[in-house]
This record gives sequence, structure tokens and C-alpha cells, in this order.
Amino acid sequence: MISGSKAAGWWEDAVVYEVYPRSFQDSDGDGIGDLRGIESRLPYLEWLGVDAIWLAPIYPSPLDDYGYDVADHAAVAPEYGNLSDLDSLIAAAHERGIRVLLDLVASHTSIEHPWFRERPDYYVWADGPEPPNNWIASFGGSAWSRDPETGRLYLHSFFPEQPDLDWGNPEVRRAMGDVVRFWIARGVDGFRIDAVDRLAKDLELRSEPRASVPFALPLHPEAMALDPIYSRNAAEIAVALAALREAAGGAPLIGEVYLPAPLLGPYLEHLDAVFAFDLLHADWDPEALGRAVERSREAGAVAWVTSNHDFPRVASRWGAANARAAAVLLLTLGGIAFVYQGEEIGMADGPGADPPLDRYGRDAFRGPMQWSGDRDVGFTAGEPWLPLADPEALNVESQRADPGSILHLFRALIRMRRELDGKPERVSAADGVLAFRRGRHLVAINATDEVQPVPGAGDPLLGSAAGVTELAGADRMLAPHAAVVLLSS
Ligand code: GLC
Repeated sequence: MISGSKAAGWWEDAVVYEVYPRSFQDSDGDGIGDLRGIESRLPYLEWLGVDAIWLAPIYPSPLDDYGYDVADHAAVAPEYGNLSDLDSLIAAAHERGIRVLLDLVASHTSIEHPWFRERPDYYVWADGPEPPNNWIASFGGSAWSRDPETGRLYLHSFFPEQPDLDWGNPEVRRAMGDVVRFWIARGVDGFRIDAVDRLAKDLELRSEPRASVPFALPLHPEAMALDPIYSRNAAEIAVALAALREAAGGAPLIGEVYLPAPLLGPYLEHLDAVFAFDLLHADWDPEALGRAVERSREAGAVAWVTSNHDFPRVASRWGAANARAAAVLLLTLGGIAFVYQGEEIGMADGPGADPPLDRYGRDAFRGPMQWSGDRDVGFTAGEPWLPLADPEALNVESQRADPGSILHLFRALIRMRRELDGKPERVSAADGVLAFRRGRHLVAINATDEVQPVPGAGDPLLGSAAGVTELAGADRMLAPHAAVVLLSS
């Protein structure tokens, strides 16, 4: 491993499976997923064929942002277990050839983190009767709140319970570097870094101008009115990332940089990959998808992602009819691909909680994993913290027994993708069809509900559903909403 610089490695074409720990597998009947539960499901993840898991935050937290408000970066929340459970999970994952990435929430802490009182110099403050600028928090409202204890204003890019760290302070850089070193010493293989585009801000705290064109990715409607040139994407973020890179050595760092693709390039100086949110937010339309892939690829090493715990699931966003074709797209693009738990069985958004738990309305995307059709024997033996959606209709157990299921399609794609080489090159196709070549392989996706011609010759190797390869081979036609991978002779 090269210390302090990026190194080529296993992650470059990895399939990383996002585990949302609260909703993956409960082992003790309290209705909340936990680390032992995750360990018990490693045989399933090995069968599926993923290279790594990313654990969304497992740290002690008052749950104002469901774990993204960290109260101690170097501990495990009691409801998830303890450090020895994590050691055990890491060792068991490694035995099965599965790497473990943690979520590094570096831009802010919980307001209940001891640093907020003991080290106020770690945070960003302002004095005066009014906020120093017009910045809007990601979840709406001013990005400034008054600390009732000191009467001063502090900056928070997310909820008021999540004060932003001041990465201009070298001691913050050292403290967060210590966090990275702590986990690497325990065997963690790398990190997904949260909210990277918020790590530093304009040094003069200038007000944002009004937006003349809408930001290219969805934001809270209040934030959409402003052009976020000062509260996001500051040049000083590179200093923060250099410090994290130095602490991480050669371990992969994958950044959540919530910016449009053309702005991602500079982040790859220190990060190994950044998520391509352009693709996640593209409409299910060949032109929009094709452009998103192209723009993202031009940025460099992107991690492809079509859903996560923050956004509606594929079946709810792009439609259940397109879920299989979307799996083909995600897993044939080359580079790193992230699969969010439950997507492999085609889960849609759940009912969420009433009243809501997440104040930004994301409960529906975080419903428990549907392991079995029997509500009492799957995710938990107790009362699940969020209701399950439709385990009778969609569950791992029945799909494992059905070779025609979307679960088997995911597994086949994870195996097949190793054979595809080169970057995706778009090829022309009928309206409504997205097609690209990877070396000798051609991937074609029919985004319409009509049969379309296959845009090239070759042996169909894999189809998104029963009958797709046969139709593509014999009649050179692509069934509605279907995708196929062909090998040219
Ligand atoms: C990231 C997380 C999201 C969280 C936010 C603030 O976007 O994915 O869940 O609310 O950062 O930490």
C-alpha cells in the first residue's frame, strides 16, 4: 500500500452493497437491525457475489438524522452492538472475501458530540443579531441557528442538530484523521465519505446569488432559489481531502459529492471515486440516461449508483416495469457499482412511518429488508422500527428458489460484468432504446412499452427476463422494458 496517495486496487470494478444497518437484519428481537444480524447474512451476500459492503453510520447518535448526526465517531451505537461485534463482522466478511467500508461523516457532528461544548473552536460560529449570510440548509430553513447556551450563531448545512465542523482548523483535520486511522487499525477497508461538497465553505461567508438556472440536481425548494457557489464546492475542500487521504493511506475513499458531473473532476485528486448522481436523477429515457452516463464518465472515476437511503427506490422512481433493465444498466457500465439493499429483489418504497420519523421524509426508502414472506421470521422476531412493505410479494427466500427472479438477474449480472471490458461507448439505436458497447459486448435497453429492434448483431448472453434472449436471438427484437447483453462474433 502506498501511504498518503491513491493506489489502484480491488475497488475499481467492485460491486459495493449498501447496508442500511437499522433495516437489514435484527438479531435480538428489538425491531432494529444490528451488526450480528449483518454477520448472519454474509452467506447471502457471498452467494450474491458482492465485493464489499458499505455500512451506513453505525455510531452512537441521537438520531436527529438517523445516524448522520454522530455523537462519537469511534464507537458503535448500543442498538447495533459493540466494537467486538464489529471486529467479528469484519473478520467474518474478510473470510468470505467481502471488504467492509464505513461511512465517514466528516462535515458535521451531532450537536450532542462532546466536541460541541469542549472544542467550540472545531465549529463555525458567527456573532451578531442576524445570520451573516442567506445560506439555506439542505433540509430547508437558514443554515444558521442560535446556540441557546452561548447565544452565538453556528453553521449547519443539514439539520440544526448537525453543526458543521471547521475544516480550516488543523486540529479538526487531525482529529478526523485519527478517526480514519482508528477504523483502519480495526480492519476496515475504506470509507464512503458523507457530504464532501460541504467540507469547506467560502472563507468570507458571502451570500449566495439568486439562481439564474436551476441547480442540476434536486435540492430542497428553498435552496433551489439560490446558486450555491459559496456554501458548496469551496476550493479549500481539497485541503480537507488531502488530510483524509493521508490518514487513509491506500484505502479507498469514495465521496458523496452532491454536485453535477462537470464539477466532480477536481475531487478525484484525493478521492478514488465519487458517486454519479446525474444518473440517479436522470429520467428513465434513453437520451437523459445516455447523457448522464457520458457526462459522468467524463468526470473520471465515478461510482454508479441508482438508489440509496436518501432517494426513492428504482421501482418507485423509474417504475417496477423498468427495475430489471435498470439493474442491467447499473451493472454493465463498468467501474464501481453500488447496490442498495433490497434493490436486488425489486423492492419499492415502503409505507414509511406515521407520524414520520425522518423529518426530511425519507422513511419510505429505508423500510426493512424483506427476507421471507412470513413477516415474523424475516427481518425481526419483534416489531420492526419501520413497517415492511410487501414481503409476501417480494422476498429473498422465494426469489432464491426462482431462477427467473430479479434476484437471480442481479447475481448473473454481478458474475458477467467481469467479462465486459472498456468504457461504455454509446451506439445508435431506435428511439426509446439505450445501447452501448463495451469491447465486444453490446448492451441494449428498451425504455419503451413496445417491442424494438436490437441495435446490432451478436449472441444474446443475458436477458433481463424470461424470453428476452430468445426474442433477441431469433427475431433480433427487444421485448418491452427489457434489456439484453450480446456478444458480437
Ligand atoms: C448524506 C446522507 C444523508 C444525510 C446527509 C447529512 O447526504 O446520505 O442521509 O442526511 O448526508 O449527513
